[in-house]
Amino acid sequence: MKALITGITGQDGSYLAEHLLGLGYEVHGLVRRVALEDPTRRFNRIEHFLERVTLHAASLESYPSLFSVLTKVSFDECYHLAAQSFVAESFADGFSTMNTNINGTHYMLAALPEIQPQCRFYFAGSSEMFGKVSETPQKENTPFHPRSPYGISKVAGLDLTRNYREAYGMFCVSGILFNHESPRRGFEFVTRKITSTVARIKLGLASELRLGNLEAKRDWGHAADYVKAMHLMLQQPSPDDYVVATGETHTVREFAEAAFSTVGLDYRDHVKVDEQFYRPAEVDLLTGDAAKARRVLGWKQEHEFYQLVQEMVESDLAATTQRNSESRMHISSGA
Ligand code: NAP
Ligand code: GDD
Repeated sequence: MKALITGITGQDGSYLAEHLLGLGYEVHGLVRRVALEDPTRRFNRIEHFLERVTLHAASLESYPSLFSVLTKVSFDECYHLAAQSFVAESFADGFSTMNTNINGTHYMLAALPEIQPQCRFYFAGSSEMFGKVSETPQKENTPFHPRSPYGISKVAGLDLTRNYREAYGMFCVSGILFNHESPRRGFEFVTRKITSTVARIKLGLASELRLGNLEAKRDWGHAADYVKAMHLMLQQPSPDDYVVATGETHTVREFAEAAFSTVGLDYRDHVKVDEQFYRPAEVDLLTGDAAKARRVLGWKQEHEFYQLVQEMVESDLAATTQRNSESRMHISSGA
């Protein structure tokens, strides 16, 4: 089996590639040209299996570059994960988020029926699409009410994916994934911002953590569990969309409390609320109902919330300790 992953350098792309390699897949990844020019920094999540995958340079903004990759190899499955994925950034620059996320998805879908109609397609939909939720928990048929340009771009991506399924009979699915985290999460997302700062505070390298809305509630799972659901969706006899979630919700405050207490600290001594991290429109509450994924796909989560928090804090503590001792050695050697 040959799979193409767009966004292979991201959190989910790296876990998915590992999962597919473990299943015996030939894995190809789409990366930006700049990443090939700066592999040390840009391939940090995939450097441990770089020699086992084939990378192709392309950009979501360029239809010819995507078309060209799709003409090179006959893929059985395509996991379209690449996107501008930071919600706050989508408020700062909604136009480029829309351009990358909507057109990028459209370009991928438009190229497939012509070149590779047999290729099964996965679109990375998001619980952010539910936005101002009309019911709890949210499931596949809960109406969407996106509250950010990012959420709007994902609703458009899901609609495009469904339309290619219905119009061209292609095997196209959308996963509606709730927040999923890991030690490989980007540093700007709230969980990693918290765990990386907890590590710095514990080591005496920082004293405070500035956050926005502490009362927002999220359904946080582990990325390693969620990429398995993506793969299962493409193994079904017919294409369909699925919610993937834990069904458990926690506030940002609870995440911070758990992360600080992992290292014996009280979050109230360090967390400061800072208006600059509030969003113009907030998604207050997300809790997913993954009953369909469990029933049809046989998917199950293997990590629970406090385990996830602990894994992230411990990983950041180990990495920060190592970086800190390397820079001390650097200074004492006079380099
Ligand atoms: P991530 O860590 O931010 O990774 C995003 C990936 O997209 C990176 O590999 C990035 O490449 C690539 N990318 C961005 N813009 C690109 C462009 N113009 N051309 C080519 N590649 C581009 O995101 P993630 O957490 O792994 O999420 C994967 C997907 O799932 C995203 O579509 C996200 O919106 C969606 N999603 C995520 C979650 C979650 O909680 N993690 C939940 C629901 C849905 P560079 O390394 O070059 O920047
Ligand atoms: N990033 C961030 N930084 N968020 C903060 C902060 C802060 O300092 N303080 C409070 N928050 C709140 C945000 O307002 C939001 O309610 C919540 O923490 C989570 O923010 P993020 O971690 O940035 O994630 P997100 O929920 O907006 O989006 C993530 O999950 C989506 C699925 O629901 C991203 O991974 C999206 O790509 C994904 O689709």
